[in-house]
Amino acid sequence: MAKPKSRYTCQACGSVQHRWQGQCPDCSEWNTLVQESAEISSIFSAKHNLQGGGRVIPLVGLDTPASLPARLPSGLAEFDRAIGGGIVAGSAMLVGGDPGIGKSTLLLQVAARLAGEGRNVIYVSGEESAEQVRLRAVRLGLGASPVRLAAATSVRDILTTVGDGEPPALLIIDSIQTMHSDLIEGAPGTVSQVRASAQELVRFAKEHGTAVVLVGHVTKDGTIAGPRVLEHMVDTVLSFEGERSHQYRILRAMKNRFGGTDEIGVFAMEGAGLTEVPNPSALFLTHRGEPVSGTSVFPAIEGSRPVLVEIQALVVRLATGATPRRAAVGWDSGRLAMILAVLEARCGMSFATAEVYLNIAGGYRLSDPAADLAVAAALVSALSERPVPSESVVMGEIALSGEIRPVAHAGLRLKEAAKLGFESGWVPKGIKGEGMRLAEFGNLRQVVDQVLGR
Ligand code: TYD
Ligand code: MG
Repeated sequence: MAKPKSRYTCQACGSVQHRWQGQCPDCSEWNTLVQESAEISSIFSAKHNLQGGGRVIPLVGLDTPASLPARLPSGLAEFDRAIGGGIVAGSAMLVGGDPGIGKSTLLLQVAARLAGEGRNVIYVSGEESAEQVRLRAVRLGLGASPVRLAAATSVRDILTTVGDGEPPALLIIDSIQTMHSDLIEGAPGTVSQVRASAQELVRFAKEHGTAVVLVGHVTKDGTIAGPRVLEHMVDTVLSFEGERSHQYRILRAMKNRFGGTDEIGVFAMEGAGLTEVPNPSALFLTHRGEPVSGTSVFPAIEGSRPVLVEIQALVVRLATGATPRRAAVGWDSGRLAMILAVLEARCGMSFATAEVYLNIAGGYRLSDPAADLAVAAALVSALSERPVPSESVVMGEIALSGEIRPVAHAGLRLKEAAKLGFESGWVPKGIKGEGMRLAEFGNLRQVVDQVLGR
């Protein structure tokens, strides 16, 4: 009989190694490889025979009437919109974002709203003392709200406290990285601790019908610190985004088992906390007056809402020899390189000896390929120092062939632009829009000619 092979499974990322190592080669965590017994491995082997002993589980059809999950609308319309209508009872939600972006502020405001409606809400801070949280609440004008606060980091203590008596409707844990579970070794913030703590809290949510919200700080590379596993354990993952130096914050659902992931909530961080921005369409436009070269306006869509954003490009000619820089803020640099390449190869516009900077105004982040044409127009305008007319919006996806491809929701985008006083649109062929002069383009060369006035 062949000797059963040992397997070592990383407790942080789940990768399987054939020998023990101090550091997991996949996720670089230390001391996370644990030997799995040969019996456990053999359960997963295809030859394993069923021995019986399991329980028969009921099977239901898809047509079984399902009750919609009970939701707790917070009354903060932008928050409710992002999560699909309100916090679902018994669900687990993860709210990620850079430190200092406003997660604690947002959740304290949500907590106060729900508590104000007579819900039992508990806010546990592992980062600040109860006094600090209370002072913040007073500054936000929420000092009289019946939210119950605690400063704690032990998951066992927290669950003992909230499990005593009527379970709360909402339990906020700020943040999951400060929590500590005594079921497992390790310091708070390590992957295994974060995972174990979250697991216990999520189990409590499911068993008691309490909605649990976990705050998670994001690491530099944009993942919620350490464990991607956390994202699988919760029902909803929200990301709170924005530039710290700008006022505006966007709450975006990255995953939602109870709703769509295409709506956003928009807030402004002000002296008295976060205020809602119900009509964000012109938020990211800088003051528009005299046309300036190197800018264009793109009508973006967030969920069902149009948002007009300004794209700014700067092209600096270099003395030959130096390697030119390319930098993009709010736009994918790979996509910038692609657009520069198409401009060069298909339209004969050379940026080879120039530094190129691209910025999306107001700290906004664009990932919609429909913005390609607006980016290209801003780049050509910057290079030629000829402005794109300031009354025009620009949209279209650019193919590698230089062809301009159609975009989704063109009508909605144009309608919003018209509402904000724009008079014309540079659009792909075949687009209809009322109340706007439309210039239709089949390929990028025609757009270049338009900017250059040829
Ligand atoms: P905070 O909610 O503590 O961020 P996080 O929990 O994501 O780390 O918000 C911190 C920042 O928000 C802080 O730098 C100050 C700013 N702020 C305001 O501008 N106005 C306010 O009313 C509050 C409470 C915070
Ligand atoms: Mg905080």
